[in-house]
Amino acid sequence: MLERITANPMAGAIGAELTGADLSRPLDAQCVAEIRRALHRYMVIVFRDQNLTLQQFLDFAHNFADILPYPMVQGLPDFPDIVPVLKRANENLNFGGLWHTDTAYLERPPMGSMLLARTLPPHGGDTIWANMNMAYETLSDGMKAMLEGLVGVNSAAKPGAAASREDRRADAAKDNSGLATEAEHPVVRTHPVTGNKSLYVNFAHTIRFKNMTEAESQPILQYLFQHQTRPEFTCQLRWQVGTIAFWDNRAAQHNPINDYGGFERLLHRITLAGEKPY
Ligand code: SIN
Repeated sequence: MLERITANPMAGAIGAELTGADLSRPLDAQCVAEIRRALHRYMVIVFRDQNLTLQQFLDFAHNFADILPYPMVQGLPDFPDIVPVLKRANENLNFGGLWHTDTAYLERPPMGSMLLARTLPPHGGDTIWANMNMAYETLSDGMKAMLEGLVGVNSAAKPGAAASREDRRADAAKDNSGLATEAEHPVVRTHPVTGNKSLYVNFAHTIRFKNMTEAESQPILQYLFQHQTRPEFTCQLRWQVGTIAFWDNRAAQHNPINDYGGFERLLHRITLAGEKPY
């Protein structure tokens, strides 16, 4: 139950705008607990008018988990845990511009991520999220039974995902030569807090099922990729400068829309450490 925070749902399936919290100040335990509860209930929570300093943004994030540094691109010079999600006016591809859950190729992918909007195009640049519990629940019993026990192989090297980060790596690539960038995770994972099952494959990173070839895996993966992003599972966020979105990577996927050619868009991102999916 929420007492101090008010949640206004953004859509039927996922997402809520929260009011009642000033994130620039230290939050007390009740406020943090309510935000956490709202995150688990709505999977994406949005706060408006939070023009936080970088330190305040980091302090807010620390209420929820340790920070998980992003492996591919360096963070800001004085705030290495904060990554600029930038598309310049003259660039074509947007960072992470395809359906994905963050860094699913890590052994322990992030539990959640946060974005704070700094510079926005005059139109477009929205982000869409999709509810992976609903994606799982709406599969047939036969498909659920088939997926139970299957393991997905997730890679950082899938071409679309790799291309979408190249402009930022050209600015400030991180040396990740010692890092494993492929990980095996259950196709159906269980949320460690809610106990809900969700579909944990994604278009950007999942290349095949374990013990199967890519060719054998593709027909089912392609079906799951289109099923899991059905419009009725989604919500769409119209950003404003100072908007913060905080989402649960264990239960949601996202896709930023690349429809603002000729304009700059900059958000600051923090990712929060998670557990090995089970
Ligand atoms: C990301 O995947 O971190 C980028 C999302 C966005 O730009 O809205």
